[in-house]
Amino acid sequence: MNSRRDFLKQISRAALTAGIAPALASWALPVPQNDGIQIPAEDGMIVRSFRFLDLETPVEYLNKWLTPVPHFFVRNHMHEPSEVNAEDWRLTVRGEVDRPSTLTLSDLSKLEPHSVVNTLECAGNGRGLHRPQVPGIQWGKGAVSTARFSGPRLRDVLGRAGIRPTGKHVMFRGLDEVPGKVPPFIRSIPIEKAMDTDTLIATHMNGAPLTKHHGFPARALVPGWIGAASCKWLTEIKVLEAEFVGNFMSPGYRFPNQPVKSGETVKPEDTHALTGLSVKSVISGPLDSANFKAGRIAVHGAAWAGEAEVAQVDVSTDGGVTWIPARLGREQARYAWRLWSYQWKAVGGDYTILSRATDNLGRVQPATAVWNPSGYLYNAIDQVKVHVA
Ligand code: MTE
Repeated sequence: MNSRRDFLKQISRAALTAGIAPALASWALPVPQNDGIQIPAEDGMIVRSFRFLDLETPVEYLNKWLTPVPHFFVRNHMHEPSEVNAEDWRLTVRGEVDRPSTLTLSDLSKLEPHSVVNTLECAGNGRGLHRPQVPGIQWGKGAVSTARFSGPRLRDVLGRAGIRPTGKHVMFRGLDEVPGKVPPFIRSIPIEKAMDTDTLIATHMNGAPLTKHHGFPARALVPGWIGAASCKWLTEIKVLEAEFVGNFMSPGYRFPNQPVKSGETVKPEDTHALTGLSVKSVISGPLDSANFKAGRIAVHGAAWAGEAEVAQVDVSTDGGVTWIPARLGREQARYAWRLWSYQWKAVGGDYTILSRATDNLGRVQPATAVWNPSGYLYNAIDQVKVHVA
């Protein structure tokens, strides 16, 4: 297998061969609707952007409770830091705190570690499936993955700094290399979520130090929330009196307060910052357009619900006329997806197979996702069409 460096060289060469000007913003690239940029990627990952690396996990890889790190989707808004040295890395904690401090990686390793299995989903996952289409990376179904994240709790770091009563939000800044006029990747979360026992400064993923693509040496891990909350290459934590004001909080990552008509624009004051994920399931097998011989076929996939719990997944093999409960996998954790499966006795014909998740809050995956101008939180009932001979 090629090294990551070779891989990046390959894709930039491919970009040049494809005649795509590197100066084009990734969101301005002409992206085909369903299968993205047709460049072979390491381990079969789908390259959605190569200027700022954005890799989608093929849907057939969403079949393990813990996603192997090389198959974990990558979402970068800008260049990854070119060099981060664990020795020199520092994390500053300041703002509305009594004892501002600067921590090293060794300081973090002395705090009690905690592990959280979390399904991380980009708010834009499924954007390419919204109709009418919206601008932005045209993610298919795989800007989502699950890993065991470990590291000290954010609240232990904040506790040591002593939060003042005025401290209401916690801001994270990443070490991304900001090209040109792009604003830096800075976002904030409310103090309640920051102080949650499961919100981490993660240094490890699936038992190994974070890789560079996933935020080495430390990232925020805000479980159950949109991926954008979990700032990578963390370098600064600042306690604020109010929500951070900046591009990635507004206009970025906001959702209309009221339903809007498809194609309509929304005023910023009529939106709110996105937090928890929606209820959703995807079919990881069989794949769309598959052909089979009649017999037993395993229909399987994953379902998640952010901070809520998946209560049930129903499967239909007749386009939604009848629904059968799928069997939920044994492995479970508060913020992790549940794998599910259904053994289908298939006879010859053409079929539309659907999957629909329901959570313990009573939220049900809808037939059509709520359209919004940025294409966030796509969660329509999943479907694949198959032919049984
Ligand atoms: N953190 C920094 N510093 N820069 C980024 O571009 N992208 C965010 C988040 N954290 C981002 C970031 C978004 S939009 C998502 S979905 C997740 O990281 C993706 O995490 P991953 O690349 O580890 O899958």
